[in-house]
Amino acid sequence: RLPIAILISGRGSNMRVIAEQAAKGALMTDVRVVLSDQPTAAGLGIARAMNIPTEVLEPSKFPDRASFDRALLEVLQGYAPELIVLAGFMRILTPDFIGAYAGRILNIHPSLLPKYRGLHTHRRVLEAGDAEHGVSVHFVTEELDGGPVILQSRIPVTPADTEDSLSARVQQCEHRIYPRVLEWYAQGRLAFRDHHAWLDGKRLDEPLDP
Ligand code: GAR
Repeated sequence: RLPIAILISGRGSNMRVIAEQAAKGALMTDVRVVLSDQPTAAGLGIARAMNIPTEVLEPSKFPDRASFDRALLEVLQGYAPELIVLAGFMRILTPDFIGAYAGRILNIHPSLLPKYRGLHTHRRVLEAGDAEHGVSVHFVTEELDGGPVILQSRIPVTPADTEDSLSARVQQCEHRIYPRVLEWYAQGRLAFRDHHAWLDGKRLDEPLDP
């Protein structure tokens, strides 16, 4: 089983789905730790209730981003994860941190990357009048929300949609696709090489679509 660390900042619904599937053996991962930068993150309670070790690192206790990330590395290394899973972790990681886990950090982002990197993706989709929206799972590189996309799931946007309705539908897609990508990684089918994602030895030039 692949030892993973899940990093969250809030609700933790992706973390919960991953941890539940891992607990029932549907996902060949071992959630070694759930770490949050927010002490009040609801996901911490979910993880504790599942007897998963939790850690909290508060940014306000560190003088700068570099020292926070050094502490983050140190705490994580104590759990020896082989993959870092960002699941609503709302912080930008330093190149030093990313370098320490090069090709071994995944993120889920609520847009059809490369569209709408950054925050407030649902609002921006509505403002732009896009006909479709979705979610992407990608490898994390130094470029914010810019690493190679592995899997994307699309939803149509209707005139009746609001930020909340889009968020809810995107979330359902997230819960389907993140575990899938993790399972590929756990099975050794997925890798990051030469700035690209590779699945079953084939370079992914386009994101996959389930
Ligand atoms: C998810 O929608 C995820 O895509 C998004 O945060 C939410 C976390 O939900 N991530 C980002 O916006 C990263 N920039 P969760 O805490 O319920 O898993």
